Amino acid sequence: MSVVVVLGLQWGDEGKGKVIDWLSSKADLVARYQGGNNAGHTVLVKGQQYILHLIPSGIIVPGTRCLIGNGVVVNPRALKKEIEEMEGLGIEVAGRLFVSENAHCLMPYHERIDQLQESGRGAGKIGTTGRGIGVAYSDKVGRDGLRFCDIVNERRWDWLAERVLPHINQQYAALQAEDRLEVGEFKALLAEFKEFIKPYIVDGVSMINDAIQADERVLCEGAQGIMLDIDFGTYPYVTSSNPSTGGVCTGLGIPPMQIKRVVGVAKAYTTRVGEGPFPTEYDDVFGLKVRTLGSEFGATTGRPRRCGWFDAALLRRTVQITGATDLIITKLDVLDTLEEIKICTGYKVNGKEHDIFPCGLSKEDKVEPIYETLPGWQTSLCDIRNAADLPRETMDYVQRIEQLVRTHVTAVSVGAERDQTILTREISFFDL
Ligand code: GDP
Ligand code: IMO
Ligand code: MG
Repeated sequence: MSVVVVLGLQWGDEGKGKVIDWLSSKADLVARYQGGNNAGHTVLVKGQQYILHLIPSGIIVPGTRCLIGNGVVVNPRALKKEIEEMEGLGIEVAGRLFVSENAHCLMPYHERIDQLQESGRGAGKIGTTGRGIGVAYSDKVGRDGLRFCDIVNERRWDWLAERVLPHINQQYAALQAEDRLEVGEFKALLAEFKEFIKPYIVDGVSMINDAIQADERVLCEGAQGIMLDIDFGTYPYVTSSNPSTGGVCTGLGIPPMQIKRVVGVAKAYTTRVGEGPFPTEYDDVFGLKVRTLGSEFGATTGRPRRCGWFDAALLRRTVQITGATDLIITKLDVLDTLEEIKICTGYKVNGKEHDIFPCGLSKEDKVEPIYETLPGWQTSLCDIRNAADLPRETMDYVQRIEQLVRTHVTAVSVGAERDQTILTREISFFDL
């Protein structure tokens, strides 16, 4: 009965895909609980790169089953493309991938409206991925969404059209767009998506709870990061779902007491894509240097990621929200050449000191990070496989993070490859 959650503790792209893949050899079922194809999770195994957007990263390990939970918004065309890509790389997907019947369908009009909204926001844009995520979740919460269990039942299509068409056309009109959704086009989309999705549809809630009852090992994969959480992130510069631990329960239908371990993934520095506050962001010159060292370009949109120092005050907040039991620090190797490394321990916000990321921070607040400086290790970590072989300066950095965040670092990552992962404590993630 062990449910382990892996989630991102920063603004996304922490290396969740790598960690999920690393843990998947010990898992029976890997389940995504929120987000959509705004996510880009990269896994590197023996030189072969796999980029997952909707399919759980557990798919790379043969034998695991993968579930896309009810909390995910699923673009069927994007999922089809991804399945084909994975099959093209020799990954068996049929019979291993399942989609919860009450997950919501992300329609082409959601994508279109997302893009129209963003261009209408001008300087106030959020910097979304343009994948329609916020619009699909708005429709879900506003009760104008489309669940797959409705799409696969043709008898419900007239009822869906009656609800959805006026709602979408009102939005197009309000955005002063020429677009119109016609009933014929709408039903043609439903027919296309019904045909494609039917073999994957299951009662996801029973699938995951039966697995828990059967004592299987269940791994829950978060997308984005807690700083992008709709409730806890840097609102409005956030995504439209809950990557935080609560999202696991609502996005999969499992009771909270089944969650035994929450593994929080954080980079050894910080990155963010899109707009919004970022207290420890580097200046342009240093930012370019670290972006180059860490290949910091979005796995979904290719956009350059903003880079900055590790922020312990931010992690203190995201550990508080998630109850992370373990930390995994990724991309330590990216800092290999630096002479000095800074850690943010708190901030002065409009002159007042804070030791934890303020929930109500806005883009307009004057935030001055408070730093301490540690010496760099200035040697390559990429071939190290045992914690005992890590340089003293690296261990000092990791231990300082543990002290400041008050959570154990259970593993560190020193390269993108699956085997470039080092356990820093003798633990077995599923052995509770
Ligand atoms: P995710 O969205 O959290 O799954 O993270 P992404 O896949 O978007 O971004 C992380 C990037 O860093 C990917 O390109 C990974 O292959 C890469 N990566 C993960 N861990 C390490 C590491 O320890 N060192 C280096 N150099 N790259 C890493
Ligand atoms: P993974 O799972 C990094 C960001 C977007 C934008 C904001 C809202 O790979 O960590 P959205 O399209 O969700 O409405 O955009 O959220 N964003 C991500 N940033 N990693 C992600 O996913 C992200 N998914 C969304 O850049 O700032
Ligand atoms: Mg990513």
